[in-house]
Amino acid sequence: MLLSPRLTPETYKCLIDAARQDPEAFWLRESRRLQWMNAPTSAMDTGSGWFADGTLNVSVNCLDRHLETRGDHTALIWQGEDTGSVLRLTYRELHARVCAMGNVLRDSGVKRGDRVAIHLPGVVEGVIAMLACARIGAMHVVLFGGFSAEAIADRLADSGAVLVITANVGRRGAKRIPFKTTMDTALGLRPEALAVRRVLVVEVTWDEVPLQEGRDALLTPLLAAASTECEPEVMKATDPLFLLYTSGSTGKPKGIVHGTGGYLTWASFTHELIFDHQQGDVFWCTADIGWITGHTYVAYGPLANGGTLLLFEGMPSHPAPGRWWDVIQSHKVTTFYTSPTAVRALMSEGDEIPGRYNLSSLRVLGSVGEPINHEAWTWFHDVIGGGRCALVDTWWQTETGGAMISLVPGAVAPRPASATLPLPGVNPVLLDEKGQPLDGAVEGILCIDGSWPGRALSIWKDDALFQTTYLKPYPGHYFTGDGARRDADGYYWITGRVDDVINVSGHRIGSAEIEDALSEIHDISESAAIGIPHDLKGQGLIVYVVPHHGLSDTQLAALKDAVIKTIAAKVGRYAVPERVYLVPDIPKTRSGKSVRRLLRKIACGETEGFGDLSTLANPAIVADLIAVIGRN
Ligand code: PRX
Repeated sequence: MLLSPRLTPETYKCLIDAARQDPEAFWLRESRRLQWMNAPTSAMDTGSGWFADGTLNVSVNCLDRHLETRGDHTALIWQGEDTGSVLRLTYRELHARVCAMGNVLRDSGVKRGDRVAIHLPGVVEGVIAMLACARIGAMHVVLFGGFSAEAIADRLADSGAVLVITANVGRRGAKRIPFKTTMDTALGLRPEALAVRRVLVVEVTWDEVPLQEGRDALLTPLLAAASTECEPEVMKATDPLFLLYTSGSTGKPKGIVHGTGGYLTWASFTHELIFDHQQGDVFWCTADIGWITGHTYVAYGPLANGGTLLLFEGMPSHPAPGRWWDVIQSHKVTTFYTSPTAVRALMSEGDEIPGRYNLSSLRVLGSVGEPINHEAWTWFHDVIGGGRCALVDTWWQTETGGAMISLVPGAVAPRPASATLPLPGVNPVLLDEKGQPLDGAVEGILCIDGSWPGRALSIWKDDALFQTTYLKPYPGHYFTGDGARRDADGYYWITGRVDDVINVSGHRIGSAEIEDALSEIHDISESAAIGIPHDLKGQGLIVYVVPHHGLSDTQLAALKDAVIKTIAAKVGRYAVPERVYLVPDIPKTRSGKSVRRLLRKIACGETEGFGDLSTLANPAIVADLIAVIGRN
């Protein structure tokens, strides 16, 4: 069932009621938005997964089934860094390119169930490679462009990827980002732990690219020689579609596994609903394809719904402020989905710059990745949306597959800075610390009851960790890791993470990830990473470091630098801390746990109101830390 274009509060209420009254019938009906090879006879996950007996192919749903009715419609507009570089691909052309890529992958020995790593800048081959993997039943593992070689090597090793698709370089303004060189370093770090046999290279520029004989090949000649017909694999709805790494509060980043039928149903359903998707829309989601937003709302949602997606290679303000507005004006973008951090950065350039552009094509604006503050919401809504566009603040996570709590244009009344109400079939609950559900207007730990089609299947190679991370902390509920406030009308305001995950500019960083990286610096005995409010980035990363005793002043002076370099090398530049404090100790409970609540308050400049410190193993350290922060 395709939703009627403009929902009203009444029609939306019917949808919500239908999902509540008979979820099995509701989701079975919604699954028919996809084209199945074998249509499922059951919907709900009763142990064997969503739509368990259905079979389909995701690339057929995103491409083949549109060929008859809109083969000549634009599927993808690529706007390059230079204003003059624009590529438009119709559904027929995109289909041909995906099939060619699928054949290149098959000819390179990739089989159903294999993992293919994709590490690319903002070029069309990213989306093409994802769909090609889906076509041949391989799982893609997209790696964020900003990961360091070490971070890439960890993910290649964990996923067991057999083939990598990368680029010679990426363009960032005048800069060239050495993708292939970084990949070569990653592949050389611990070759014994890697299964990569082949590296295919996209030439983004004419820059020279080093190729290793027998392993590496340029992609263009292979694609040119490949057939543009490629038989799609018949996949079970519960077969994995992709693996995507995300950070949690403990240990290394984990590979979240998403399935095929449930995930695509959720991507299509939510994309249509929250963006009020209509024929002729030009949909621009600014996320990197290395994050879940780039999977669900750059690629799968818009293409499953036969829409037109826009990919932009460049940056918001290069070569001059206003570049994003220029892209919206040039391509008549109707739907613009971005992050609060980007909105705040653009807002700081003033109202005059967007005022120079014609933004009247915009109909729906979206925000994702972190709480959007009132001021940024109002500016986005009033200045960019001209007060006439719906602004959907969409709350969700890598693990949820698609949006869960969001405004629905026309159907839900907005409240600035609130993600508003749960989507049909989503049942949030707020719990107290003991796991008791809280009623009415209240603040608590955000959990979700029951399942929904887009929920992740598992953590790669570690289902027990999936259970302990999400399902065991509050038995009977899915634990999101977020806190939220609910008002008397049932609207939700997300207050941020309640675990040790830090959200910097919408990028999830685990404190353990940073602390593990720093444990390798010889002169450090321990460290603690925390997040504190940051005007532009939402949260800023702060690291407390305890140096070994007896270091000289010169050694101490070099330590801060080593901390920054180590984090950049082991995680990526996006995780480099705002500030590094060298301190004599970290406040601990008697059982030896770092008390992050205190570390956060002290880093914010607070000097009192810390509550009872007598339960600490080392209460005197608090005064020392206050003194260190005061001096810096
Ligand atoms: O803390 C929430 C925040 O981002 C986390 C999920 O991050 P990730 O898995 O990287 O996915 C980001 C894109 C979906 C959540 O646990 N978050 C995401 N969207 C919002 C948000 N916080 C507040 N409001 C949002 N709209």
